[in-house]
Amino acid sequence: MKIIIAKDYEELSAKAAEIMIGLVRQNPKAVLGLATGTTPLGLYAKMIADHRENGTSYVHIRTVNLDEYKGLPKTHRQSYAYFMRKNLLEELDIDLNHTDIEDGMASDAETECARYDAVLEKFPRDIQLLGLGSNGHIAFNEPGTPFGSGTHVVTLAENTVKDNARLFEDVSEVPRQAFTMGIRQIMQAKKILILASGANKAEAVGKAVKGAVTELVPASVLQLHPDCILIADRDAAAKLENI
Ligand code: F6R
Repeated sequence: MKIIIAKDYEELSAKAAEIMIGLVRQNPKAVLGLATGTTPLGLYAKMIADHRENGTSYVHIRTVNLDEYKGLPKTHRQSYAYFMRKNLLEELDIDLNHTDIEDGMASDAETECARYDAVLEKFPRDIQLLGLGSNGHIAFNEPGTPFGSGTHVVTLAENTVKDNARLFEDVSEVPRQAFTMGIRQIMQAKKILILASGANKAEAVGKAVKGAVTELVPASVLQLHPDCILIADRDAAAKLENI
């Protein structure tokens, strides 16, 4: 794993944007695996600014997202589909029909997981962007998820529900289940870019980078990926002093 320590969130976002925009310019037909959450917001703002100022085009780009809450429609303000449209996709020249995410309202979860597995198979990702859960999760693969997993429905860990409650009016509104891309599929991306910001991620960063590769720390699997870059700001990198 290549590790970049940024001095702050701004620098983390700038370095991530350099990698992502560089890839899009180099391969205008790239497939991007994207993430939601607070961490990539700075990166997305820079991608939008670059698109406006420098004309980097997303006309032939495809995107697939990591995960979606089960039970929330695409129009719900807290759905990840809505988050992606508002924070990135609608601001680019991308064809929205070429942006995929699990359907939180699918009537049959098994069929939806199979559909998404097929999408991921059909469009191999050139890069997969990840955030990191404070418990070491990647996408919604909580500790204990088998490394061989494909798209599946998860029951969110109690601390994930609490972490995510800040975006809802009340913790009781946070869905308890979600669809997520599996760890096997995350690892199939040609390149992985994982971002971690803030002191509450320091423990998870330390375990992911220096700890044992174990299903109890989902992000530790990234040590086995041939082209994985972690960008952490100083607070998130606090447990990496001797690296
Ligand atoms: C988001 C996702 C999650 C987040 C993680 C960190 O699509 O899959 O794994 O990346 O929970 O979230 P933030 O960035 O909000 O700290």
